[in-house]
Amino acid sequence: MPAVRVIGPGRAGRSFSDALAAAGWRVEPLLGRGDDVRAAAGGVDLLVIATPDAAVAEVAAAVEPVPGTVVAHLSGSLGLDVLAPHERRASIHPLLPLPDAERGAARLRAGAPFAIAGDVVARDVVAALGGSAFEVADDKRAAYHAAASVAANHLVALLGQVERIAAAADVPLDAYLPLVRATVDDVAAVGPAAALTGPVKRGDHATVARHLAALDPAERLAYEAMAAQAARLAGRETDRSAQVLDTVDGFRKALDAERAAGRTIGLVPTMGYLHEGHASLIRRAAAECDVVAVTVFVNPLQFGPSEDFTRYPRDLDRDTEIAAAAGADVVFAPPVEEMYPGEVQTSVHVAGLSEGLEGASRPGHFDGVATVVAKLFAIAGTCRAYFGEKDWEQLAVVRRLAADLSFPVEVVGCPIVREPDGLAMSSRNVYLSPEERQAATVLHRALLAGRTGGPEAMRAVVATEPLVELDYAEQVDDRLLVAARLGTTRLIDNMGAC
Ligand code: PAJ
Repeated sequence: MPAVRVIGPGRAGRSFSDALAAAGWRVEPLLGRGDDVRAAAGGVDLLVIATPDAAVAEVAAAVEPVPGTVVAHLSGSLGLDVLAPHERRASIHPLLPLPDAERGAARLRAGAPFAIAGDVVARDVVAALGGSAFEVADDKRAAYHAAASVAANHLVALLGQVERIAAAADVPLDAYLPLVRATVDDVAAVGPAAALTGPVKRGDHATVARHLAALDPAERLAYEAMAAQAARLAGRETDRSAQVLDTVDGFRKALDAERAAGRTIGLVPTMGYLHEGHASLIRRAAAECDVVAVTVFVNPLQFGPSEDFTRYPRDLDRDTEIAAAAGADVVFAPPVEEMYPGEVQTSVHVAGLSEGLEGASRPGHFDGVATVVAKLFAIAGTCRAYFGEKDWEQLAVVRRLAADLSFPVEVVGCPIVREPDGLAMSSRNVYLSPEERQAATVLHRALLAGRTGGPEAMRAVVATEPLVELDYAEQVDDRLLVAARLGTTRLIDNMGAC
């Protein structure tokens, strides 16, 4: 009857010693922190070090080598080198979670798979437990263990996401567990590729885009990453590239050709340096239109002489990547000379709407916006055009100009996307120092206060933040609007009044 001693009275150590005892081995009492381990290798055939990974080498070094005794660890990621002073070394890693000693011991004896290395004793242990053994050499250890982490930890993390997303639909996690179990059974029966189902497998981009539009922004990154993994498994790599065009003529012809082929166009005008707010417009467009064109153009006409035109952040490669990932097919990024080859003599002015609030604070701004948007509509032709409610007055100006000038464009307004702390996403947020970034949340807090206390309450909340200089806080119809300066950065935000 072989004899074993285990150092490390945690879940793994106790599961192991209980399982080996049940298998008929002579098991010495467990040693823990504070016990003298110097003589631990004496009088046994096998000494198992079941401490956390970080302590294995130190414990192994503290044990005096005994010729003939095998020293083993239970780590999935460590090699045999950490057992250095001992001649006969082994590694025995059960590829199963061991939640506590009782369930752990039962699992170890129920035909468990084990990754082993080193001395043949490892095989004897696995045979005694009735498990199945496979060898993993030291240089393959990290990859082996990474796969185990994905199989266990990442799966659990994904199920945490399932729970959160389902909660938003008032459905409990329990309702999804039969689906999870059946899916794992299918993977066991036919393998991952054949077990895959769902919209990505079918190439149903519209459904994926609808999912993304419905998800909390904090859930999108993981959803998109796993959708890309599903596409890879399905052999259906999603088209994550967009065609970049920089001439008016080229852009017009590309969209004309799409329409001639019977496809509908979604247009998303931007000044670039794209963030989740822009991406939400692109996804909405992708959900509702066959072809999505994003324009990236920092329009000099809409900046005042002392404003940030030259320092406005620009990064076309990054923008193209974000736009394509969100579902854009075409990115139109013309240089200034292409949009305005000579002196601009024609300007679009939307009277009334352009004069309040932002219009009053930034003279000429809305004429610049209206002029460039009119040009983009004229170039793009029949389409649906997506604008954010973040720029509430701009949305009103654009709707009005499209109607007054009979552009064949349906203007679609989209909700504001915010950072987790409430700050509305904006390309200009990158200007903020860490202190200003913190202080900037006051705009959102002011709007929330304004819902019950009106503009007075908004002004009072903004006044609590010394870094923030209020420009205006107003209610127009049932919209609360606020603008403020933080250092040299000007931010705007708005919210429904009730
Ligand atoms: P830009 O500031 O880049 O914004 C492009 C579009 O994204 C606008 O419709 C804007 O309202 C929307 N957007 C920005 N931040 C958003 C957020 N946090 N949530 C939802 N939508 C958001 O607005 C302009 O560019 C320009 O004035 C433009 C219309 C392109 C004309 O030059």
